[in-house]
Amino acid sequence: MYHLPQLTKNSSISAIAVMTSGGDSPGMNPAIRSVTRAALNQGVRVFGINKGYSGLIIGDLFELKSHDVSNIVQRGGTLLKSDRCEAFKDPIVRRQAAEILKEHGIGGLIVIGGDGSLTGAHLLTHESGIPVIGLPGTIDNDIYGTDDTIGFDTALNTALEAIDKIRDTAVSHERIFLVEVMGRNSGHIASQVGVACGAEMIIVPEIDFKLETLSFTLANQRAEGRGSSGIIVVAEGPKPGLTYRLARQLELDGQTAGVCILGHIQRGGRPTGHDRVLASCLGASAVTYLLAGFSDIMVGILNSKITATPLLDIVEKQKPLNPELVTLAQLLHK
Ligand code: ADP
Ligand code: F6P
Repeated sequence: MYHLPQLTKNSSISAIAVMTSGGDSPGMNPAIRSVTRAALNQGVRVFGINKGYSGLIIGDLFELKSHDVSNIVQRGGTLLKSDRCEAFKDPIVRRQAAEILKEHGIGGLIVIGGDGSLTGAHLLTHESGIPVIGLPGTIDNDIYGTDDTIGFDTALNTALEAIDKIRDTAVSHERIFLVEVMGRNSGHIASQVGVACGAEMIIVPEIDFKLETLSFTLANQRAEGRGSSGIIVVAEGPKPGLTYRLARQLELDGQTAGVCILGHIQRGGRPTGHDRVLASCLGASAVTYLLAGFSDIMVGILNSKITATPLLDIVEKQKPLNPELVTLAQLLHK
């Protein structure tokens, strides 16, 4: 599937550390396993940091041996736990974190997480000089520099399985359902899930949406005798409660719609085969890049190739949403 980077070992690093940070995603465990075993196989010791940056700043880390990562490739969540840590945004705290890594003889760090975690990773290496490599771990698939993130495929399939079931009821009772999927700032999950489940409409934060359009679509559907059941996929958006607000507004327009919030079921569960392969390839590649002397990059997938993108690009650039998927979903309903 992916060709692994062929780089020569070019550093004196004898120990590395790995952590998961931000929202957990299915596939973080196979990534940890891959990092650990790839490093151990090259004679490099590995430390696992508990609870992301929260653990790093208090030195909550332990040495990982090969057997510690046995039997996790199929498990959701993360063996190393994850957390959000406001304190890490403070440069003084980051300096203390760098000291802790140095005290343990750790010559490189691999951070698995979303764009926030990778921002922290960039600042840490930029300020301390300790080599850091990032891996894209989030269900949201909203990271610049990679077509795919670890956990996205699993979340997509979890949401789809749920929506297929909701559609059974929608059809049996001729009802409309507004189904909310995750994505506070991004509609990548919503747009792909929407096309895959045959949604009547997809609502995402990146594209302006008018309630009248939705009402009109639903009214038209009825008028044309195309049934009165339907699934509208809604990305959660930045302000909680969007989907309930939409349902209330629709009601004022004379339409009745049920609301289903899929929530955190999308973050859990056994990773799909796709996510396991992706995580395994990216994990081992991150070790290769680190030991070859690279730093301040994220290892991702672009056009089916394993690539290295500067972390600064990840911090500064947004991955665009493909608006064609949103249009396609509607087109396939005409
Ligand atoms: P994700 O990594 O899933 O996008 P967050 O945005 O919540 O999740 O970020 C996870 C953690 O990364 C934060 O709790 C914080 O510890 C660290 N982080 C995020 N943004 C920054 C920043 N600007 N500077 C330093 N650390 C950051
Ligand atoms: O980053 C993944 C994500 O699941 C987002 O889609 C969602 O908005 C957010 O995390 C929710 O995170 P939490 O419930 O952990 O605050």
